[in-house]
Amino acid sequence: MEDVCLVHQALSCLNWQDIDTGCLFLGKRLEMPLIINAITGGPGELTVINRDLARAARETGIAMAVGSQSIALQDTSARESFEVVRRENPDGVVLANVSALTPVADVVQAVSMLEADAVQLHLNIPQELAMAEGDRDFSVLLERIAAAVDKLDVPVIVKEVGFGLSRETACRLQQTGVTWLDVGGKGGTNFAAIEARRFPEGIGNAFKEWGISTVCSILEVKSTGLPYHVIASGGIRSGLDMAKAIALGADLTGVAGPLLRVLLTDSYAALLAQLQRYQQELKAAMMLTGAGDLKQLQQRPWVVTGATREWCFARGLLTAAD
Ligand SMILES: Cc1cc2nc3c(=O)[nH]c(=O)nc-3n(C[C@H](O)[C@H](O)[C@H](O)COP(=O)(O)O)c2cc1C
Repeated sequence: MEDVCLVHQALSCLNWQDIDTGCLFLGKRLEMPLIINAITGGPGELTVINRDLARAARETGIAMAVGSQSIALQDTSARESFEVVRRENPDGVVLANVSALTPVADVVQAVSMLEADAVQLHLNIPQELAMAEGDRDFSVLLERIAAAVDKLDVPVIVKEVGFGLSRETACRLQQTGVTWLDVGGKGGTNFAAIEARRFPEGIGNAFKEWGISTVCSILEVKSTGLPYHVIASGGIRSGLDMAKAIALGADLTGVAGPLLRVLLTDSYAALLAQLQRYQQELKAAMMLTGAGDLKQLQQRPWVVTGATREWCFARGLLTAAD
């Protein structure tokens, strides 16, 4: 995100009060284009964490995805930590989450557990390879995703967990019929590094720098010209980062790690304050680029520098004029 600059507009003739940071997501209005991204769920105190995250989503008018529901599909006592999210936020946007390897009947159950507005199917191959007990057979990924898109009556979002999405992946996913991608790029929570601490003898250490940054992933997906809705996540750390992602062409953004951290190390009030600060920072970036709403922000000029620029040229994502 440091390699992206939005171009300052000194003559931005907007009234702060008129700037609209809101958007429609899955037919519901959000006060800003943000998802509390998939984090957790399971027995014990995880219910309290998800309850607080869901309350914060409701109070600030944003969306929330739960962490992987696979545990609740195997153990009904873990369901409460997921169901609490819908109870706390009956009218909000709630996203189910399971591995993209999950058989379609289980995906249907995960969605109904939450009356979810959509389901995230996560891709995390580097993380699985870095875990001693991780999956090794990904041969059915595309067919499982296609089956979910076909069977479900809510949208499917294919989501990386921090290694990004390439143009080739976005093109291959087209055959599944999926229309929403969360790029989950490199630059934030790093599951190769996390798993390397658990399994130092595994592949995690060697792959700590693996992946495609969030900025490059957005541009990779946009370069396909395919009509994907794009969610930018992975290293989004402020409302300014949100603004940069939207200007690059994302429709929404997602944050996970920092929100969990502030809740666990500080308080619910601090979590709310952080989300409110994101909105103020986004609004300031809109004011300073002359964007009265998010559609206008998507049209505002930006400049990419440094290693990101090199990647973009190497991959043909930018022209000399950019
Ligand atoms: C503690 C923790 C648990 C996570 N669990 C899941 C998960 O179950 N499913 C998933 O799709 N992503 C999971 N993620 C990944 C996040 O949703 C997100 O894609 C990733 O952390 C990058 O965003 P960030 O840099 O804002 O943390 C988890 C992240 C964290 C920090």
